[in-house]
Amino acid sequence: TTVTLGIDVGGTNTKIGFVDRHGRCLASTHISTGADEPFSNFLENVFKTVKALSKEAGDIEMVAVGIGAPNANYYTGKIEEAVNLKGWGKEVAIADLMEEHFKVPVAITNDANAAALGEMKFGVAQGMKNFIVATLGTGLGSGIIVNGDLLYGHDGFAGELGHITVVEEGRTCGCGRRGCLETYVSATGIKRTMFELLADSNGSSSLANKTFEQLTAKDIFDAAEAGDALAKEAFEVTGEILGKSLADAIAIFSPEAIVLFGGLASAGDYITQPTRRAMEENCLHIFKGKTRLVVSNLEGDNTAILGSSALAWQEYEKKKNA
Ligand code: BGC
Ligand code: NA
Ligand code: ZN
Repeated sequence: TTVTLGIDVGGTNTKIGFVDRHGRCLASTHISTGADEPFSNFLENVFKTVKALSKEAGDIEMVAVGIGAPNANYYTGKIEEAVNLKGWGKEVAIADLMEEHFKVPVAITNDANAAALGEMKFGVAQGMKNFIVATLGTGLGSGIIVNGDLLYGHDGFAGELGHITVVEEGRTCGCGRRGCLETYVSATGIKRTMFELLADSNGSSSLANKTFEQLTAKDIFDAAEAGDALAKEAFEVTGEILGKSLADAIAIFSPEAIVLFGGLASAGDYITQPTRRAMEENCLHIFKGKTRLVVSNLEGDNTAILGSSALAWQEYEKKKNA
C-alpha cells in the first residue's frame, strides 16, 4: 500500500501515523515532544518511532512526509520561534533534516493549515475551493483556502485569525498583544469568560467553586448540558465574538463555508447557534446567507495526522507532476 506519513507537532505531544490515499490511518502513535530538550533528541525519537510503526503497518511504501506544527513555515521548511518549543531554539530546519533521513519529499505547514488540507482531502470541505477552517483548541488557529490553495502570503505565515484584535486593550494574549480573538474564542478563552461571569454572579452556578486550573472547557459544556444558565451564557458570549470575526473574514475571503474544528467545536449547538446568528447578523449585505457554518466530520484521535498527511499527499502529487 502506498502511504504518506503525517506528523502533528504539539506543545506537549507529537502524533505520528501512516495514512493511505483514502484517509485510512494504518498505524499511529504519539510521543512526547520534549519541548525543553534539544531538537536532536526529538528527531531521533521520531526516527525510532517511525521504524517501529512501519513494522506494525505491514506492507507499505511511504512516498512523502507532511508535518503540521506551530510557527511552521511552508516556504522555508523551518519552524521559526515557536514559543511552546523553547528548547529547540529560534529556527529548526525540520523539513530538510527529515528529508535527509527518509529520502522522500517532506513538507511542513502551520497546524491549522494542515487541518484545512485534511478537510479538503478527506473531510467536509471535499470539492470546495474557498473555505476557512478555524481550529478551536488551546488557541485559535486558521487555515484559509482561496481558489483551491492554502493562502500563505508574502512570508508564509498568512491566516493567523486567532490574533486579530477584537477588543481594544482587551485580554492579554500569549503573543504579547492584547484583545486577540483567541483570548476569547478557544478552550482557554471560554474559561476566562466563565470566570468573569462567575465573578459577577450570585454563586448559584455549579462551577462556582472551581479554580481556574481545575476548570476545563468540557466542564463548561457538561454544566450547560445540565442546565447551568451561566455556562450557557459563556457559550453565547464566545459564539457571539467568533461570529462577528467570521463576518469580517467573510468580507475579505468570500468563503463557501467556515469549518469549525477541534475541542470546542464538539460542543455542538451551544457554540454553533450563537456563532451562526452573529455571523449572519454582522455580515455585509452582499454576503448574507451565502456562507455555511459547518463542524468538522473527521473523528477520533487521528484528525491532526490526517491533516499533515493531506499535506504530504499534496506535495507528492506536486513533485510527481513537476
Ligand atoms: C497560533 C497558530 C496556531 C494556533 C493553534 C495560535 O496561537 O498563533 O499558529 O495555528 O494557535 O495551535
Ligand atoms: Na494558519
Ligand atoms: Zn495574540
